[in-house]
Amino acid sequence: MQILLAHGPNLNLLGERRPEVYGTTTLLEIEAEVAAVANARGAAVICFQTNHEGALIDALHQYRRVVDGVVLNAGAWTHTSVALRDAIEAVQLPVVEVHLSNTHQREDFRHRSLIAGVCIGQVTGLGRDGYGVATALLLDHLETRG
Ligand code: DQA
Repeated sequence: MQILLAHGPNLNLLGERRPEVYGTTTLLEIEAEVAAVANARGAAVICFQTNHEGALIDALHQYRRVVDGVVLNAGAWTHTSVALRDAIEAVQLPVVEVHLSNTHQREDFRHRSLIAGVCIGQVTGLGRDGYGVATALLLDHLETRG
């Protein structure tokens, strides 16, 4: 079993970007945590981050036959990108959407996720712990699906 952990724009700056909202954990630490959760269950993790929307779509296309599922924090593209939604739908991989902050408690424009409808679930507002939850949910889904 292999999963993709994908991050969108500005998430390379985790740890220094608005720590009061996103916490002080770095992206590298999050990647290590997800790898630990997945490895403990016999799954491998490929990590990817980009600040370019098309590059995230390309990565989903390229990994569609390499990985079994995706944990995705699409950052701001969550709220804006029909192209990302279409890509998730097109690759037919199970995707768990994750956000560090509780997007529903923030600005109105963050309340709507354009990708939620094509993801198997959404984990929002649990900070760094949300990634472990999202990874476990994805692996549960993949294991049950067989
Ligand atoms: C985020 C929430 C988004 O609204 C925001 O644009 C981000 C981070 C989160 O993890 O809380 O970049 O996805």
